[in-house]
Amino acid sequence: MYTEKVMDHFQNPRNMGEIENPAGVGTVGNAKCGDIMRMYLDIDDAGIIQDVKFKTFGCGAAVATSSMATELVKGKSVEEAMQVTNKAVLEALDGLPPAKVHCSLLAEEAIHAALWDYAQKHHLVIEGLKEPKKDIHEDEEEE
Ligand code: FES
Repeated sequence: MYTEKVMDHFQNPRNMGEIENPAGVGTVGNAKCGDIMRMYLDIDDAGIIQDVKFKTFGCGAAVATSSMATELVKGKSVEEAMQVTNKAVLEALDGLPPAKVHCSLLAEEAIHAALWDYAQKHHLVIEGLKEPKKDIHEDEEEE
């Protein structure tokens, strides 16, 4: 039920770890499954993502989507990184089972949260970027 690419990124995750003094870091979580994902970005003065690392405390699909998301944003500009949506991650992985689609959403949210942190620190406005939810434990109420 998992594609080869999902299994590959789950078993050999790329860019796992953390970056000291990152340009931006963001942590997001899904209240229902309890999974947590953190993304670190190293961004140079030209706004290019030189390095990216992730830590995921979560399911295998969350690990695979984090790994793929880091590969998709590495070397890209901040604006290009905004195009790395959960759909882009899903396509790059050749899909996920329906029950696991929310895991790829976490990857998109983690990138956005890290970009938000970067934008805040540098007083920048990144088009289309919204403020992430403040407290990852606070939204248990939804449906
Ligand atoms: Fe929640 Fe995968 S089960 S992130």
